[in-house]
Amino acid sequence: MTAFNSAAQAYAQYRPQYPTALFTGLAEHTSLDGTQTVLDLGCGPGTLTLPLAALAAHVHAVDIEPAMLAEGRALAAAEGIENITWTAADAANLPNLDLGPIDLCVMGKSFQWMNQDQLLADLDQLITPNGTVALISTAARSTASRPDWLDVIERVCVAFLGPDYLQANNPTAHPAEGRDDVLRKSPFSTLRTRTWEQRLTRTLDELVGLQMSFAHTNPAVLGDRQPAFERALRDALTAYNPAGAFTSTVPIEAAFATRP
Ligand SMILES: C[S@@+](CC[C@H](N)C(=O)[O-])C[C@H]1O[C@@H](n2cnc3c(N)ncnc32)[C@H](O)[C@@H]1O
Repeated sequence: MTAFNSAAQAYAQYRPQYPTALFTGLAEHTSLDGTQTVLDLGCGPGTLTLPLAALAAHVHAVDIEPAMLAEGRALAAAEGIENITWTAADAANLPNLDLGPIDLCVMGKSFQWMNQDQLLADLDQLITPNGTVALISTAARSTASRPDWLDVIERVCVAFLGPDYLQANNPTAHPAEGRDDVLRKSPFSTLRTRTWEQRLTRTLDELVGLQMSFAHTNPAVLGDRQPAFERALRDALTAYNPAGAFTSTVPIEAAFATRP
């Protein structure tokens, strides 16, 4: 069972969609015109996969967690999308999946979970000569743009799970190297980045549900403390903001990596 097994349902329900501008940017930067083959690695419930299916001939959606793929399959079926193949596999097993040539590999908030050097070497064997690796993530935000209600959530998390709860349940691959360093020494060493600001407003229910989608506060991590955690979170957030509308501006970043 992986870190995202018990998070899958909340992930599909409560994580926000990526902004439309991201997909326009992806299409512009990689010349997507409906004829390409895309690989979405660490696809989760298809957060990138589903919108990309409209821009590509075929999308291979690969994730190590079957519960995530089940959510993605259900969402694709509900939307009548048929040009996606869902595969349960570890990214380390990529060379054995017989995917054929890939024009664009996207990874949305998943690169940090993988053996990055080996993965980029494996992708070098799969990606077409002019192809792209696109890493999508939430960029660091300035202190000024960090909403205060994140501190309220943080205090409840620490009270229930201890001060090291983030490190305890998130990957520590490449602790000395940042994403860009890893890319620059890889076959995909030419790097361009773009950022889009996404304005979000969530209700109290959505914010509590969202916590269940994280590797560090999902139902498996909380165990029998989940009901008390949810109650404490509701109480603290309601005391902070009785109106119950929680806004934030999130910078969504795409790093486009190509061969020189
Ligand atoms: C934070 S979620 C991102 C989901 C989606 N790409 C998005 O942008 O919202 C990270 C995903 O990476 C998957 N993952 C983690 N390690 C993996 C591995 N070694 N191989 C394949 N998938 C992996 C997890 O199961 C999870 O679904």
